[in-house]
Amino acid sequence: MAWLITLTMVLCTCYAAADAAAENRPSQVGLSSLTDELLQMAREPEFLGWLRSVRRRIHEDPELAFHEFNTSRLVRSELDSLGIQYTWPVAETGVVGSVGSGSQPWFGLRADMDALPIQELVEWEHKSKNKGKMHACGHDAHVTMLLGAAKLLQLKQADLKGTVKLVFQPAEEGGAGAYHMLQTGALDNIQAMFGLHVYPDLPVGSIGSRPGTLLAGAGRFMASIRGTGGHAARPQDTRDPVLAAAFVILALQQIISRETDPLQAGSFVYMVQVISVGFVEGGRAENVIPETVRLGGTFRSATTEGLDDLRQRIRDVVEGQAAVHRCSGSVDFMTDTGRPYPATVNHREMYDHAKYVGEALLGKSNVKVIPPIMAAEDFSFYSQKMPAAIFVIGIKNETLKSDQPLHSPYFFIDEESFPVGAALNAAAAISYLENHSMLVNCDEPESHLPFAANII
Ligand SMILES: *[C@@H]1O[C@H](CO)[C@@H](O)[C@H](O)[C@H]1NC(C)=O
Ligand SMILES: *[C@@H]1O[C@H](CO)[C@@H](O)[C@H](O)[C@H]1NC(C)=O
Ligand SMILES: *[C@@H]1O[C@H](CO)[C@@H](O)[C@H](O)[C@H]1NC(C)=O
Ligand SMILES: [Zn+2]
Ligand SMILES: [Zn+2]
Repeated sequence: MAWLITLTMVLCTCYAAADAAAENRPSQVGLSSLTDELLQMAREPEFLGWLRSVRRRIHEDPELAFHEFNTSRLVRSELDSLGIQYTWPVAETGVVGSVGSGSQPWFGLRADMDALPIQELVEWEHKSKNKGKMHACGHDAHVTMLLGAAKLLQLKQADLKGTVKLVFQPAEEGGAGAYHMLQTGALDNIQAMFGLHVYPDLPVGSIGSRPGTLLAGAGRFMASIRGTGGHAARPQDTRDPVLAAAFVILALQQIISRETDPLQAGSFVYMVQVISVGFVEGGRAENVIPETVRLGGTFRSATTEGLDDLRQRIRDVVEGQAAVHRCSGSVDFMTDTGRPYPATVNHREMYDHAKYVGEALLGKSNVKVIPPIMAAEDFSFYSQKMPAAIFVIGIKNETLKSDQPLHSPYFFIDEESFPVGAALNAAAAISYLENHSMLVNCDEPESHLPFAANII
């Protein structure tokens, strides 16, 4: 009887999927019963208690980019307990878990693991024990939500029509961990990717994103202006790099004000380009003209092409202004230590998919279209390689003061957001696999039987 019922169900789902393919969607009814079930499971006191304990252990022991050794060990030990296999190490500390049949399609879910060099100022039981380090960007919550999804997926393993890859990456904060994960080849066969980032502007129980560009591209530069040092009383015997540096800084600001369209791309009026010089150094004494001045900063753009243009113009300005003052200028774009992050551009279909799943989980009114964000994310390296979308997930609760900005020493998270993140991750994966494998299987009528038998 179980066999018959399952067979009938499978055939029905299969026809439903064929209809859905016509309008490109699995049925919303089937989807909301899935999302309700997942959210209910993740909100069970025992499940939520486990999520909290995972997160608190990570929060107490924050580790910086590429040094996430304890965090990585915790991830592996939780995957071991769940009976989930994984590859490790990928890019130093990264872990790639695998749930499902092993066969295609492969869908990726991503969490970043690194903390920031910030001293936590929130006084609470699970405050960071590592001096000067803090999970102030919520990556502890991302790891927790992905482990939560892993547990849900393991419980629903029989329903997975393909494979979910659980991507725990190092070094989002400046180290381009995502780029290094991709370089290893460990993610080569993943067809599409979804990621979440906590967001203190939205209340718990809501999520947001936008199609197209969500986050800026960003790069860093370090310029060196070399002149000829000498006595400050005899400038005619020197080539003054301090004066040249002053002109460089002024001219860098003129790039944005004179060369970008102030109305560029309509909705991007508040997110076009930024150049900021963050430090200048050179010389030690008031009466000596130094040999060299160094200065460095960041540049950001709404588009990856804009980032390339800025890079070229920064080089022109540094070299040109230095030459005008009889000095020589050079720029290092720190591609090894501070690899530029491309703009994070959400793929339209993946965005629609996640939005659709989010609406089934949380209701239409709790899935928001948010304005673009000038911060950058190394998720952009995945979105350059494959259809990918990243959503932000609300953590705000004024009672708990979990409305502080990311990277603030007062940053705090309402842990009620964890079941939402776990369920959203899991549902996005299950329904993606369902949609994409059904389309393959339903094209061939004779595949119905073995397919049903597989499931039993
Ligand atoms: C990692 O864990 C060990 C043992 O639990 C602890 O002694 C150590 O301080 C942790 N490392 C860091 C960087 O916090
Ligand atoms: C289902 O798959 C089709 C074909 O790949 C795609 O166009 C569509 O966007 C998918 N639907 C969802 C909800 O992801
Ligand atoms: C905020 O947190 C408090 C304390 O945990 C909780 O009682 C309350 O329900 C939360 N509010 C919302 C809107 O979730
Ligand atoms: Zn951050
Ligand atoms: Zn972050």
